[in-house]
Amino acid sequence: MEVVLLPTPEECARVVADAVAGSVLGALAGGGPLVLGLATGSSPLLAYRELLRRRHQEGLSFTGVQAFLLDEYVGLPAGHPESYRAVIRRELTDELGLDPAAVHGPDGASGDPLQAALDYEAQLLAAGPVAVQVLGIGANGHLGFNEPGSSLASRTRVKTLTEQTRIDNARFFGDDVDAVPRHVITQGLGTILRAEHLVLVATGVGKAEAVAAAVEGPLTASCPGSVLQLHPHVTLVVDDAAGSRLARATHYRYVLRHKLAEQGW
Ligand code: GLP
Repeated sequence: MEVVLLPTPEECARVVADAVAGSVLGALAGGGPLVLGLATGSSPLLAYRELLRRRHQEGLSFTGVQAFLLDEYVGLPAGHPESYRAVIRRELTDELGLDPAAVHGPDGASGDPLQAALDYEAQLLAAGPVAVQVLGIGANGHLGFNEPGSSLASRTRVKTLTEQTRIDNARFFGDDVDAVPRHVITQGLGTILRAEHLVLVATGVGKAEAVAAAVEGPLTASCPGSVLQLHPHVTLVVDDAAGSRLARATHYRYVLRHKLAEQGW
């Protein structure tokens, strides 16, 4: 995988935005629709702001884009402000000009979440491959909501969150851990691997261990992020703090300095 190690989160955001914008422009040039995979969480927020800036100041158009979310809480009523569908609309897609009907996610409010997970997997398959999937990583190495121990071949399904993830995410629920749902529907690791290009962004020292385990550790379900090692096109964008535990950091910087212009993202 390509490890892009940059001094600041702002520089990371520009690279993520470049990768997404490149796919959007490529799809438009080819006359085809674009399936964009979006992650929630704080990691991609600066990149989303950069995409919004490009839309407003440079006329980058997202017309025709279909967006698919990675995951969703089970049990929050539709439209709940912390449901991931509501979050992504608020943080990105409304201002990008995407019709809410073009923003898809698992139906966490369904009375039958197991079926809702199967339905979402089918919907993803029918939409065609995700051209570019934006990812964050949890401090424990989770991707989407695939907690450690998740099958590396998993499909979209209902999962139970670790207590640590609920504690981490309580900040979005007024610091009330009890308000964080216990269950989620998440794309599986095998589902995520179907995307054509995976772009993971991680910033801050809190992610350093997870990033090192994902990039340089063994391929193991104990670190779901390590599944990226199986994918042919991964761009892992990290700031110096998140990359501080990478043993080959010097080499990654060397590669980046000597990247050929035609290599792109
Ligand atoms: C969450 C999300 C993931 C996200 C991760 C990291 O709980 N389900 O999609 O990548 O945790 O979150 P953050 O970017 O806020 O650190």
